[in-house]
Formats: sequence, C-alpha cells, structure tokens
Amino acid sequence: MSELDLANIQGDILEGLPKKHQSFLFFVILDATQFQHRLKDIIPLITTTKQALRDIQAIKEHKAKGLLKLVGTNIAFSHTGLHALGIDDAALGDPLFGKGQLADASAGAMGLSDPGAIVGSGPTARTNPAWDPDFKKQIDGCILITGESKETIFDCSKDILTKLTNTFKIIKEVHGHLRPEEGREHFGFDDNLSQPPIKGFDTPNTGEQLTEPGLILIGEEGNAPLSGVTRPAWAKDSSFLVFRKLQQLVPEFNKFLDDNSDKNLPPKQGSELLGAHLVRRWKSGAPIDLDPTEDNPDNGKFKNRVNDFDYSNDLTAQIRCPFTAHLRKMNPRASKKPGLEFVQKSARIIRRGIPYGPEVNEHEAEAHASKHDRGLLFVCYQSDIGKGFHFIQQFWANDPNFPGKGDGHDGIIGQDINNQRTITGMYPQNVSKPLLLPKQVFVVPLGGEYFLSPSISALNTTFAA
Ligand code: HEM
Repeated sequence: MSELDLANIQGDILEGLPKKHQSFLFFVILDATQFQHRLKDIIPLITTTKQALRDIQAIKEHKAKGLLKLVGTNIAFSHTGLHALGIDDAALGDPLFGKGQLADASAGAMGLSDPGAIVGSGPTARTNPAWDPDFKKQIDGCILITGESKETIFDCSKDILTKLTNTFKIIKEVHGHLRPEEGREHFGFDDNLSQPPIKGFDTPNTGEQLTEPGLILIGEEGNAPLSGVTRPAWAKDSSFLVFRKLQQLVPEFNKFLDDNSDKNLPPKQGSELLGAHLVRRWKSGAPIDLDPTEDNPDNGKFKNRVNDFDYSNDLTAQIRCPFTAHLRKMNPRASKKPGLEFVQKSARIIRRGIPYGPEVNEHEAEAHASKHDRGLLFVCYQSDIGKGFHFIQQFWANDPNFPGKGDGHDGIIGQDINNQRTITGMYPQNVSKPLLLPKQVFVVPLGGEYFLSPSISALNTTFAA
C-alpha cells in the first residue's frame, strides 16, 4: 500500500483541526477569474494533515503553560462552486454532490426526509424543508476556521477576507464552540469516541476495525466509485464534506426521557437509563452493556474499553442494546441482517462536528421548552456521499425496518415524513414494546450543503489559476 501524502490532505479530514472554537464562512464567488487568482494566497494558509499533527503535539507540550494560540484553516467547494470555477463536477461521479443537499433534503423518503411542509402524499411525497432560508440560497463554498479563541479566528478570517476581497462574498457565518464539559454534545453525551481508524494513519484501539483510506479519500486504496465512473486524477486525496446545522431541543428531549422512563426505577436513574438506551452509551461514553444499570465514567475513559463491543453477544434479542440505539443504527458492527458486513464496510464516515449555541438556562429547563437555538454543527467526511452520510441517514436511521422488520427508527436522528416514528428495545423486561416518538423531532435539521474538500495539489492545479 502506498503511503498517504499527509502534506497533500486537508487537516480536518483524517486528523481533525484542534479546536475550542470554530467558524464556518459560507460564500458565493463573485468574480471567478479573480477568485482563482487570489486563491493562490489562501492555499499557504490551509492547515494540512501534517500541520494538524504538529499543532496537536505543540498543544500537548504547551498544556502546563496554558492555552496555545493556534489557528486552523480548511476550504471546501459545493457543486455550484466547482461550476463557477469551470470544473466539471459531474466527472466526480457523485450524483448527490452534483444535486446539492437541499435537493436531497426535499426528496422525502427517497432522500433525507427532512421535516417541513409536505408536498404530495404517499411514498413519493416530498417536503419543503423547514430550513433557515440562508441555506436555501446558493452556497459556492465554505471556509472552516478553528482556534483556541474567537479572537484568533477573527484575525484569520479578517486576513482571508482581505486577500479575497471583491472576488467573493460571505453570505452566512456559523460559529461553534466546545461546551463547558468539553467533548459533550448538547444532550450531554460524550461525542468523540468512535471513528473508523484509517489504514496507514491510525492505530486501532481494542474492538475497532481498520478502514481502507479510500472510503474517506478519493483515489486511495478502497475507493470504489459507482460503476462506469473514473474519477479525475486531480481529485485524489480530496474528500466530500457534509455539513448539517442540526438544532437540538434539549429541554424537550429531557422531558421525554423523564416521562417515558421505567417507573420501577428512581426517576433520575430511569431517565438516564432511557437516554443511555437511545444512544447506546452512558453520558460519560461508557458502553451500556459494561454497566447495565448505572453510568460508570471509568469505562468511558479508557480508549481500549469504549469500542470493545460488536453486538455479537446480542445479535437477535436486543437485551443488551436496542437495535434502534443511535450507535447501533449508525454502525451495526456484527448484525442480525445477513450480508450486511459488505455494505457496512463502505458505510463509514469520519465525524468532525462541534456544538453551537448557549447552555440550557433555568427558565428553559423549568418550562421544558427551548427558547434559544443550540445544537450540533455536524461535519463528516467520506469519498462517496451516497455510500456514506446519505446512506446511513436514509437507509439506516430513517428506516424503521432496519435492521429487522418493525425494529424502529433511530431515536436520536431518525426522520420520517410519512409515518409516526417508533423505537423498540427501550425496556429490557419487554424489548418488543414500542415507544412512540413525538412528531416534533428532537434533532431539527436547519440547513446544510455537500462540499468537496480538495487536496492541496488539486487546489494548486485545478482550483487556483
Ligand atoms: C444532533 C445530532 C446528533 C447527536 C446528538 C449525535 C450523538 C452521538 C453520540 C453521543 C455518539 C456516541 C459517541 C461516539 O461513539 O463517538 C454518536 C456516534 C455516532 N454518530 Fe451521532 N449524533 C448526531 C448526529 C449524527 C448524524 C447526522 C450522523 C450521520 C448520519 C451520525 C453518525 C454517528 C456515527 C457513525 C457514530 C459512531 C457509531 C459507531 O461507530 O459506533 N450522528 N453520535
């Protein structure tokens, strides 16, 4: 296997840009010729994987002295961005990238099933997704900037704006930041524990399966585009970036847990247990089967324990973990569904999200109602959107008959514009007892787009002029 060229791959993909804060600057290109010309000044600012590794080492070495001032920058383009720059997006052979995320989100059960006003009826019904209108406008690209503080990000974005002035326009900015309990998403769960370890780059922890780099990077070993498609040589080491703004209704989610917990248990314990069943981990990240009744943060701390499971001890009964638990839907590992291993091998993504919005305040908690916008700026990378993000959202999270008939939706992110959503496996004494989910989803998609995060050589040879 040839070695990965870490100086050619943008840093957020395999390693992740170190971050306490992150800004996403969504832009449209105004003057393509000038933009291509000035892009040459931006390319040296892009943090490569090689640089991200160095930065992470520097942060570790500096830890005792406090926060190290460090900025990370990546850039990505949508299909309209490629088009504006005269690059043939169809040659990439990813039809979903070519249509854009809004088309996918509007396609009802044939797509992502994002909630919104329903157009038509039955299996072919579509939606006009209830997205933030800014995400319904054309977006040509996105600049991702990370840093240890907002000020560092601001300085970098000012520099980029100056360098690209009059050639492009920022049409939307979105900012994220780690929560006080770093690593936890807004429902309170540790969200940084399972990623596919990449062959030639990562060392897997116990229970983790090495993944071909080509599932994440175009043109690398294991990248199998649709039949008949030969991807252009320039696209090698690029990756598709999926961005989704996912609002989380935290007080409403917590009330649902309280109302539907096992009433034989003390209320707090029952509520936490139901949450752990929905996710498949306790809030600390500890796997529920290691500690079936209460969280044990020690088991969430050890890298060799957090992924040391494959559901093979619970293949058909869902006694230890519900089939509809978020983790089990998103990565079924060993599965009761025959032949799934093959599909599963290609349905891998690397997640790089960050929370946004304020903490829940007392008034919201008391009223069980969200007054402020908060959630997850979801980002993931893959070499094929149809086999990665789109597949696991449409065919696993949204399908109540996956892995088995009537098992139910993914209780965290499952969407269904036609049917009432249900989950099973939540009550160990009666695992087939269905639990109805409210019509209002707890994770509300507010917008997004499909992008290509080009390699450094692609930026130099194909994007810049
Ligand atoms: C606000 C929305 C979401 C929340 C709150 C959420 C929460 C979580 C949590 C707490 C974990 C466990 C931490 C870990 O194992 O790393 C997890 C894992 C995961 N999530 Fe999500 N998630 C969300 C959206 C999504 C979306 C949209 C997708 C893809 C369609 C996704 C795919 C995954 C995958 C692949 C895993 C790892 C599964 C495994 O390897 O076992 N998540 N998520």
